[in-house]
Amino acid sequence: MAATNETRRKVFLGLLGSAAGMALGGGAGARAMVDQATRVFRLDGGGVTYAFGINAGGQVQSLYWGAALAASDSLPAAVPVEANSSNEMAPGLTPYEFAGFGGGLTTEPALKVRFPDGVRDLDLRYAGHQDKGDSLVLQLQDAKRAVRVALTYAMDEATGILARSAVVENRTGNWIQVDQMAAACLNLPYSDDYRLYFLSGRWAGEFMLQTRAITPGAFVLESRKGVTSHQINPWIAVSRAATGEESGPVWFGALGWSGNWRINVEMDAMGGVHATAGYNPFDFSYRLKQGESLASPVFHAGFSNEGFGGASRVFHRYQREKVLPHAPRPRLRPVLYNSWEATFFDVNEAGQVALAEKAASIGVERFVVDDGWFGARDSDKAGLGDWVVNLKKFPSGLGPLIKRVNGLGMQFGLWVEPEMVNPDSDLYRAHPDWVINFPGRQRSEARNQLVLNLARKDVCEHLLKVLDALLSSHNIEYLKWDHNRAWSEPGWPEVAPDDQQRLYVAYVDNLYKLLAGLRRRHPKLEIESCASGGGRVDLGIMKLTEQVWTSDNTDPYDRLVIQDGYSHAYAPAAMMAWVTDSPNFVNKRVTSLEYRFLSAMQGGLGIGANLNHRQDEDFAKARRLVEAYKQVRATIQLGNLYRLVSPGNGSPRSATLSVSHDRKQAVLFAFLHSSMLRSAQKTIQLRGLDASAVYSLRPIAGSAAAGTVAKASGAYWMGHGLKVALEGDFQAAAFVLEAVS
Ligand code: GLA
Repeated sequence: MAATNETRRKVFLGLLGSAAGMALGGGAGARAMVDQATRVFRLDGGGVTYAFGINAGGQVQSLYWGAALAASDSLPAAVPVEANSSNEMAPGLTPYEFAGFGGGLTTEPALKVRFPDGVRDLDLRYAGHQDKGDSLVLQLQDAKRAVRVALTYAMDEATGILARSAVVENRTGNWIQVDQMAAACLNLPYSDDYRLYFLSGRWAGEFMLQTRAITPGAFVLESRKGVTSHQINPWIAVSRAATGEESGPVWFGALGWSGNWRINVEMDAMGGVHATAGYNPFDFSYRLKQGESLASPVFHAGFSNEGFGGASRVFHRYQREKVLPHAPRPRLRPVLYNSWEATFFDVNEAGQVALAEKAASIGVERFVVDDGWFGARDSDKAGLGDWVVNLKKFPSGLGPLIKRVNGLGMQFGLWVEPEMVNPDSDLYRAHPDWVINFPGRQRSEARNQLVLNLARKDVCEHLLKVLDALLSSHNIEYLKWDHNRAWSEPGWPEVAPDDQQRLYVAYVDNLYKLLAGLRRRHPKLEIESCASGGGRVDLGIMKLTEQVWTSDNTDPYDRLVIQDGYSHAYAPAAMMAWVTDSPNFVNKRVTSLEYRFLSAMQGGLGIGANLNHRQDEDFAKARRLVEAYKQVRATIQLGNLYRLVSPGNGSPRSATLSVSHDRKQAVLFAFLHSSMLRSAQKTIQLRGLDASAVYSLRPIAGSAAAGTVAKASGAYWMGHGLKVALEGDFQAAAFVLEAVS
């Protein structure tokens, strides 16, 4: 009887497709269900349940987010939270899905608006919902005025990752001003031992993993730099104190936005923990006329009970299958050569041809000319903005070089920094008004450059035209797209003062449109997101760029630490690294060619060394390592990553294992950074293999495993492990394990 009542009361939304659990629309969406009696909404997918409910007052409250509940579990209806005292009123204690500022809210609002009459009070109530096939859209409306909010929930069936975003629409008949807007607020189940993880850094030192206890009060992670920023990346993870690399709960999320952003993590007066992510309210204001709307970025949030390793593996999968270009099958990264560290601005046809010939001889598949090929660009002082080939350096244009590169069997790629201009450029001389600026005020330069105002239609049209012409007249299959400075004086004098701060949103929206427009016109084109290294790595730009440059720091040891941090949030499928010269240009550290190669092989492999300085034996070794990499790159880039030993906190060693999806191939990288290693630490136990399969072990590079067998079961490699015979400082070895039938 109970079951019949249950079935009658619950309505499966289109995300489900049928009560039997089959998904509609190509299987894109997860299971979503609404219990009409209790007004509880529930999304299930990838071993995760997310639920919220409408309380008696019409407010939308979070009910649960974590490991999947049984299908038969009924969540109780949302009950309005009671005040603790006259000092801790209910709004400051309520786990809102999307809190409007108003009615005594003292925690972080998801939306704050101002009306022409000075009212700044918003009381968002449930106004309906729609099934969009692969997402659930919840309609909210202010209790008194026609401010409408649509919340989108799209849960990925395979990974349980929830993509949340919001749109606010003004139907009041007059203007409203949005002072603050988030994509989502996520509320965690009660616990008093939460830890927050995030990634911080600076130029040449990005993606350093940080942690702190979550305690009463708020902790703000943000960028005010106009771009995602090296300083903090828009990713967080929250764990319990006992969570480890392979066990325990981890809630995580990343904001897909390449401009100013903020994630506010706070613990309210009664211990409730809320994470609100969206546009940075710092210097933010967005005026909406009657009928206009503003969309937030997307916050992608997930849960894993298998520690930080489980969390990153599920997030990597989601990025490959849902985010990166060509998802669900992102293309493998070709081995590339880039001339930057070899020649800096000193590029010319003969020099690049010589490098290209050498690069081709070691197996490089894509040859990239970096900065210096255009305008009067002999240093960083001039030329940015003038995207015309420098005929002193390339007397017949880029054509002959590209022909030679293609003839050598390689693709050709080019560095650009379209959003910037040097004051010493033809573009700036013609259009000094095209940069962001406040009239009559200083225009602060950084690296001798200013930021073009991409919010302006004419600037965008110009860039599209110039870049389209460049790509149409040459066989250019790849752009390294740079952004080399933080913003200053973010003015947009051509629009009314009340509209100027739209800049923060309009710039990034137009950047995305520009990238999408170029990709549409040139379907073969691949793009790398670079911003002085890893200053623009986020899920917004990664929808439009196959790969990212994590850092200008190419020292192989520093890079391992950077890559370890990066891997907590982002997929190896998109991560590039280069083998450069030793001593390294950043820190003068001397390392072996093999160590440099194995460090750079953790994602997409590039070579950035001056090949004119290489000896014959280096070429032979490089050729062998590039060939070995190609045999295993699908597993490295698209497989499951296990951080066996992380290099952070001065660990004398580190190791990763990448396992293919069918578990038939695994690639082990082992590094010894310092001789301060006890011999027992040389043994590495693997993870993620099929325990009952038999795997053969073969060294790819470095010393062979000491005192180990050449063939054993997955159980053996995971339980007993293998001893890697490394000695000295900065040594490395790599092995491939293949399942033998
Ligand atoms: C930035 C990039 C470098 C290089 C230079 C060129 O610093 O991060 O890789 O392209 O610009 O000026």
